[in-house]
Amino acid sequence: MSVLLDPHSLANRPLLDGIQGNILKSHGRPHTANVFIHCRPNHVDEAKTWLHSLVEGEDALIQSGYAQLRSNLLWKENQAIDTGLFACIHISAAGYRYLFGDGKNTELADKPFQRGMKASAALLNDPDPESWESGFQAEIHFMLLLAYTHKDLLEASVDNVNRAIQSFADVTTIAWGCALKNAEGAGIEHFGYVDGISQPLFFEDEWETYKKNNNIKDEARDIKDEKDKDTIIKFDPRAAKELVLVKDPLSPKDPNAWGSYFVFRKLEQNVKGFKQEEAILAGILGFREEDDKERAGAMLVGRAEDGSPIELDKKPGLINSALLNNFAYQSGNNAKCPFHGHTRKTNPRVGPVEEGVQVANNRVMARRGIPYGNRTDDPNDGNIYNKPTDKVGLLFMSYQASIKDQFEFVQTQANDTQEGIDPVIGQGDRSAKGVFCPEWGLTEPTKKASFAQFVNLKGGEYFFAPSMSFLKNI
Ligand code: HEM
Ligand code: MN
Repeated sequence: MSVLLDPHSLANRPLLDGIQGNILKSHGRPHTANVFIHCRPNHVDEAKTWLHSLVEGEDALIQSGYAQLRSNLLWKENQAIDTGLFACIHISAAGYRYLFGDGKNTELADKPFQRGMKASAALLNDPDPESWESGFQAEIHFMLLLAYTHKDLLEASVDNVNRAIQSFADVTTIAWGCALKNAEGAGIEHFGYVDGISQPLFFEDEWETYKKNNNIKDEARDIKDEKDKDTIIKFDPRAAKELVLVKDPLSPKDPNAWGSYFVFRKLEQNVKGFKQEEAILAGILGFREEDDKERAGAMLVGRAEDGSPIELDKKPGLINSALLNNFAYQSGNNAKCPFHGHTRKTNPRVGPVEEGVQVANNRVMARRGIPYGNRTDDPNDGNIYNKPTDKVGLLFMSYQASIKDQFEFVQTQANDTQEGIDPVIGQGDRSAKGVFCPEWGLTEPTKKASFAQFVNLKGGEYFFAPSMSFLKNI
């Protein structure tokens, strides 16, 4: 199975030059701004000229996938280097209608995309769009994502964009993102858990790193010797580019014109509420031992705060290997991670098996989210009283080939109460209780507990990240 791309191979240059950055690999910058743009009526030509200027001319902001890989590499080698601004543009179905009239956007066949996120509110149990932040209630045409290593330089770039569009468009809202880190320097979300560990891998060098981090020695996928059983592949994250890329139908002549459907959701997190309920759950499950006190939260998320997957724990005390991802949920039923644990609900790691190995299923997305909002406390200090209840959260972002089969499928699964609602992101009836097995490694006896909702949607939209040649030829 060699679906992976060699980033250094000349053969892949046209592909990587033809797509925008951030799709196949995260831009990685710690400061971001999502600028949401509404064009005023009858300024179509100016809007097209601006889109064009993003990829051509002196002020071009947007980097191709190739240029982004180069700058990521430079940054990795020397953190002191200013790798500059990263930018990529996303267009909603309303945006395509604004630019081309009613005809063209239907070529972008994804149904949820065509209707926009507000139309999916009922399906996803989202709050009524009329309760969203006003900047997301507006009709959004474009979303420009800007990212920088330095906050002040990012702000200056946003000012420049404001000036460039003011004659034809209004900014409906700006969502500012800011990476959050734990004491070990790993990226976390506001509940305090390491995030961004499990991703589809598209590049050969990522696969080499993955094998090293997960101590995978044998790609043969066969357990020859019981003592080697931890060193074989159990979950294969390698993915073909078609997991996230589709041909850009509005640039039909260019064989390297690929784009990607993009989901943006501003998800507010009530951290104090979540931490309170975690403690209550630990009480219900009888987790009082020092070794066990993190286990309630790990059962909700699927990983401990430091990222350790609960499925790989050998005993109740939680292991400390944040990067481990080589597992399927094989310990049976709810034994370690409940069926409704967030990582298990959103990626159950069941489905296609090749040569006895679990391969990433076609529901997986390239997640590109970043936290928003300021913290004055230490997210991992174990306290509850000092935790924020609002104004912080996750700017959820994902790239996929199909919003219907990937993001919407996964969110719908998370909402499903059959095996318990996803305690982190589930939306809907919260009264149904999920099953927990506090007795380590046993599926009985079980305890049942419900968990309140502490993640709330403030607004969002579906977009398409068009190809470089679409932008060059507009
Ligand atoms: C993984 C938190 C929203 C889908 C994770 C992880 C954490 C986390 C801590 C484990 C780290 C990792 O494996 O990468 C959150 C929080 C959210 C949120 C706090 C909201 C505020 C979402 C949403 C979706 C989603 C909206 C999709 C509908 C996933 C997936 C994984 C994941 C697919 C990886 C599972 C795996 O492959 O093992 N999330 N998440 N998350 N999350 Fe979320
Ligand atoms: Mn731990």
